Amino acid sequence: MAWACQAAPLLDAAPSGERPRPAAPPAVNEPAVDPTEMVHNAGGPLFAKAWTAPVGAAGQTTAAAEPVDPSAAGKKVFLGLCASCHQPTAKGIPGAFPPLAGSDFLMADKRRSIGIVLHGLMGPVVVNGATFANVMPPQAQLTDDQISAVLSFVRSNFGNTGEPVTVQEVAEVRAGHP
Ligand code: HEC
Repeated sequence: MAWACQAAPLLDAAPSGERPRPAAPPAVNEPAVDPTEMVHNAGGPLFAKAWTAPVGAAGQTTAAAEPVDPSAAGKKVFLGLCASCHQPTAKGIPGAFPPLAGSDFLMADKRRSIGIVLHGLMGPVVVNGATFANVMPPQAQLTDDQISAVLSFVRSNFGNTGEPVTVQEVAEVRAGHP
């Protein structure tokens, strides 16, 4: 009983009306994660980081941050889309997917290559002397910017040296041809 009687005064002795305060106010101005980090990562090693970024994701979050580098954008579309068939090396697979690397067919006609991305291609088609009789599905979901970027990228990489494909040229082919 004696212990019980002492308990009440002990509790009352606790400071009343004074609530414990945090030692320091929470920091409110912590810098957020730097949004430009993603842009830098997107330009990283060819087959590692860039490959893991889904097409469009980085573009959506960083669109307002800085202007898009067409070469990086082209590489991203290539690795995210075209490389699944034409291979990350762009050398294709004999008998199935023709090469874009060193492709005489690709380099011969800019507008035809725009049309292939927009409308697909059903062979037979002869690339560097080898015949392919497969089907490439249309990639018309890509924007004019993306098609210009990816074709400019493949036309100036993998041993290819060609002038870029402009957004205007893509828009014309999309508007004017079946
Ligand atoms: C689903 C597989 C697939 C995807 C994805 C694909 N292609 Fe193709 N592509 C093909 C096939 C198959 C052919 C050959 C069609 C045939 O045999 O008639 C081809 C042919 C081509 C050709 C003409 C032949 C050559 O090698 O020069 C070009 C140019 C081309 N593709 C570019 C692209 C680009 C650029 C992308 C990405 C935007 C892309 N392709 C995505 C399967 C694909």
